[in-house]
Amino acid sequence: MATKKPGGLAEVVAGQTAISTVGKEGRGLTYRGYSIDDLASHASFEETAFLLIYGKLPNQAELQQYKRKLSGLRRLPAGLLTILEQLPSSTHPMDVLRTGVSALGAFEPEREGHDQYEIADRLIASSASILLYWHHFHAGGSRIDTETDNDSIAGHFLQLLHGHRPNELHEKGLDVSLILYAEHEFNASTFAARVTASTLSDMYSAVTTGIGTLRGHLHGGANEAAMELIEQFAGPSEAESGILQMLREKKLIMGFGHRVYSVSDPRSDIIKKWSRKLSEDTGDLSLYLVSERIEQIMLQEKKLFANLDFYSASAYRLMGIPTSLFTPIFVISRTSGWSAHIIEQRAHNRLIRPNADYTGSDPLSWTPIDQRV
Ligand code: COA
Repeated sequence: MATKKPGGLAEVVAGQTAISTVGKEGRGLTYRGYSIDDLASHASFEETAFLLIYGKLPNQAELQQYKRKLSGLRRLPAGLLTILEQLPSSTHPMDVLRTGVSALGAFEPEREGHDQYEIADRLIASSASILLYWHHFHAGGSRIDTETDNDSIAGHFLQLLHGHRPNELHEKGLDVSLILYAEHEFNASTFAARVTASTLSDMYSAVTTGIGTLRGHLHGGANEAAMELIEQFAGPSEAESGILQMLREKKLIMGFGHRVYSVSDPRSDIIKKWSRKLSEDTGDLSLYLVSERIEQIMLQEKKLFANLDFYSASAYRLMGIPTSLFTPIFVISRTSGWSAHIIEQRAHNRLIRPNADYTGSDPLSWTPIDQRV
């Protein structure tokens, strides 16, 4: 990979955290000390969210209670449903979530003495309701019930989306993906959320900041952009020539590269296996084979590796999820990491306010308006 360019706070240590390690030698990617491999193999997303927010793995009773609690926090205020109905059907689902979270903060504001943990759990539990209430209202005119009998967020999401109990493999695949997306140290959206929290703003404002920052294609939006890329190609050889052409034109290939990792993204290996498993389950390997060829070309031509967003795209498509909901799923998951960081920032707060190198003009003498050219 080419040497890092200056700017973008690359390699700057901007604060401390005890929540996760990302690409630290000898540690890899860990959440509160637990490796991402162990979490993806043994934990559920709810267990992971509890670990991130409350700082320890839940025991059996705590996990059951936490899942029950989250399941009981899915209903939305009537006023918020009306707002969701008023949004245009052309709204990007990320804008729906940004608006929905912000509006929830008006209906259930964080007041003095409010428990920030309760708000974190409410947001994790109700984001799918916001998103899919809007989705069904605008896609088919139906006002869905935002509660289901499924106590996993992954299963609940798929059940609300498709209107029936999900295939077990799909539910497990989505659950693993939520675990992988939950936390990633000082990534752009988490850092932005911490900046907002550092001004002593409220939790909803900090999470809304995170959503706005995640939306861009260089960050969370890359999973949607990667899907659009993969779907352009009818097969692996078309993908190979197409990618080579894009590289000649110096285009960015979405779902590749990373600011912190230089050799590989440990999350990508896990989601790649899931993409393969889901493809084999449906008996259609076409998206997977196109993705694999793109990955080979990127490694060969640019020494760039797939990041988490790349194989998440085909995995989500195989679960029947529309592309425009890919980045919102990232929000549902990352709300756990953002919340943990907001709580941590508040516990050791100092206003985040860096300096800038000034590159503007030397002091100028004042020019009255009638003498200006
Ligand atoms: N496709 C093509 N070239 C890429 C690339 C990609 N996905 N990612 C990096 N490069 C190139 C850059 O153009 C740059 O080349 P140059 O020095 O000739 O200009 C070089 O590799 C170094 O990259 P740099 O811009 O310094 O990386 P960064 O740390 O600023 O950016 C990302 C990191 C993630 C924003 C960047 O890799 C990217 O844009 N990836 C695509 C979007 C994406 O997948 N985002 C999700 C991240 S999890």
